[in-house]
Amino acid sequence: MMTLNDGDQPIETCLQGGVLRIGICRPKKKNALTQQMYQELTAAIELAEQDDRVRVLLLHGTADCFTSGNDLRDFADNPPGGEESPVFRFLRAISRAQKPIIAVVNGPAVGIGTTLLLHCDLVLAGEEARFQLPFVNLGLCPEAASSYLLPQLVGHLQASELLLLGEPIDARRAEQLGLVNRIYPASKLFQRAIFLAQQLAQKPPAAVRLTKSLLKQGQARQVAEVMSKEGELFLQLLQKPEAQEAIGAFLQGRPADFSRFR
Ligand code: COA
Repeated sequence: MMTLNDGDQPIETCLQGGVLRIGICRPKKKNALTQQMYQELTAAIELAEQDDRVRVLLLHGTADCFTSGNDLRDFADNPPGGEESPVFRFLRAISRAQKPIIAVVNGPAVGIGTTLLLHCDLVLAGEEARFQLPFVNLGLCPEAASSYLLPQLVGHLQASELLLLGEPIDARRAEQLGLVNRIYPASKLFQRAIFLAQQLAQKPPAAVRLTKSLLKQGQARQVAEVMSKEGELFLQLLQKPEAQEAIGAFLQGRPADFSRFR
């Protein structure tokens, strides 16, 4: 069963009735994702793809937080080194998965916590869900092909607002923008998500996979190319003083000051 506790197993998996639940569970750090967690997420997706018992993947966080995105401490101490880094391997795995992925979001979904949703097939949100893309605020650029997928989904101006201002939006706004399929009260969210996942898991699996593949095939090449380009730029920016100032400020609990940069 899904646990919402403070255990030391940050990625939890559980297979039941054809639904593989993949839980991000590191509540003390708002489910911030470390390299190890990306590796475990990737392994869970890859194993699910090979396992005929798995019909649907259900990706969730804890009750009041999806994920605060990349662990900024891990970023500072152990920055990703290239395309084979765990974060990029994870993004490729989620973007290429053949089986449907349902994301269940309540509380913050920051950075990759929002961009990964662009690769999911259904996004169910709790009323307290908050979506935020603070890459610019961190001296970084979009990743996960979000610079391509987001304007396609929400239009250029809305995408610019989300990516340039980096302010959080609530579940209703995300639903209006098409980032979210359905909103439920937080108390019903997991129950409804599991019900929907089980319904999908009972459908003819080849037809489900083929439909997913048809829905995605038109943009697959572009997604892969943009993701790779963004990754390269992201890694360059991560080394620059702007990102170091932003990440240092977060870790030191002070406002960032970009006034010296040109
Ligand atoms: N990386 C590392 N640690 C993080 C983190 C992250 N992305 N997000 C939260 N944490 C840590 C905090 O430093 C804090 O640790 P501490 O208790 O040791 O001081 C703990 O998690 C709780 O976070 P806090 O900020 O107190 O919770 P909150 O409920 O007030 O705010 C967020 C939650 C998610 C809105 C806020 O933590 C946040 O904005 N985090 C950074 C998000 C971000 O920029 N992610 C990177 C995107 S690329």
